[in-house]
Amino acid sequence: MKKNRAAKRILDLPPYLFAELDRAKRAMKAEGKDVIDLGVGDPDLPTPEPIIRALQRAAEDPSRHRYPSYEGLPDFRQAVARWYLRRFGVDLDPGCEVVSLIGSKEGIAHLPLACVDPGDVGLYTDPGYPVYPVSIAFAGGEAVSLPLKRENGFLLDLDAVTEETARRARILFFNYPNNPTSACADPELFQKVVSFCRRHDILACHDAAYSEIAFDGYRPPSFLAADGAREVGIEFHSLSKTFNMTGWRVGFCAGNPDAVAALGKVKTNIDSGIFEALQIAGIEALSRSEEIPGKLCEIYQARRDLVLSGLRSCGLDPFEPRATFYIWSPVPGGKASRDFCKNLLLETGVVVTPGVGFGKHGEGYFRISLTQTEDRLEEAMVRIREAAGDLW
Ligand SMILES: Cc1ncc(COP(=O)(O)O)c(C=O)c1O
Repeated sequence: MKKNRAAKRILDLPPYLFAELDRAKRAMKAEGKDVIDLGVGDPDLPTPEPIIRALQRAAEDPSRHRYPSYEGLPDFRQAVARWYLRRFGVDLDPGCEVVSLIGSKEGIAHLPLACVDPGDVGLYTDPGYPVYPVSIAFAGGEAVSLPLKRENGFLLDLDAVTEETARRARILFFNYPNNPTSACADPELFQKVVSFCRRHDILACHDAAYSEIAFDGYRPPSFLAADGAREVGIEFHSLSKTFNMTGWRVGFCAGNPDAVAALGKVKTNIDSGIFEALQIAGIEALSRSEEIPGKLCEIYQARRDLVLSGLRSCGLDPFEPRATFYIWSPVPGGKASRDFCKNLLLETGVVVTPGVGFGKHGEGYFRISLTQTEDRLEEAMVRIREAAGDLW
């Protein structure tokens, strides 16, 4: 019996916080209630046609049916390098500074296996993508959260890291434009990260999954454009949000060649890369990097404006996003975020995500995802406004 128990790393995983909320959502749907789900960060719009066509053509070519290489086709990595140069002015060597990923989640989850030893500290921003602390823990590391606070514009405060923690740290996960807060970092912050990581010999791991979803003409910078960034760090990207390709599982990691090689070594022992036809479709997507995300951003910007004004009309004070498709708002009346979200669901049929699901420093907030049509978002805002009197 004992031998059948799950490994300690599984038993030690944090409890799933949303079980009750999921149950309530399922029950309401089963009763035929009209539930508006603003919980998941998964684009509602389809993958653009030319990308689908490229996959269809490549899938019909039998030479694409065999095992791919874990590091990605040379053509795919060259397309990534061309995109970096066009978009960020960063000139990457596709031979040793780019590795393909089966979605950026795969790379983020595997990275600590490449560079964290048991007992090492891994730093990560909180609230944040839950994979950071779990992947550090899976590698036997100690995950130490760095709080993102509204009074700092949800920006990473490296001065708050103690010397002792910094000395033990091997990696730092950070993410701008940020999920869930939507905060954006300017190049000066990235430069500070380079100095900090150089001083303490820490691998900087920037998650740029939302770099192309931005508003009002803003273009989020790349960490790799900071002076010296490639000596100390890497950057994760994803085609998921940029091209509505979450289900396709195509991403990549770029930057420091030693870190890219170490991650590649983990991958050679675990996976066999991305189906080549998907990589060909990824090349097509990257070649349309000016046209496709631009159109998506216009759609998300209109939705953002609608939800911001809707929430403000209910007396809430959401953080105004310059990027990402998320709105991060304080929970009214100082309630626990889980209780608030459950009551909101029961009263209105609108699903939003409790901030505590993104880490302990997310408590006191909730997240709205703009991945529904304007009509549905408008309907959600009407319902929330009507319920606001009772709920807060
Ligand atoms: C901040 C952040 N990073 C990475 C990912 C992973 O994206 P993918 O694995 O689809 O590339 C997500 C997905 O929601 C995310 O929010």
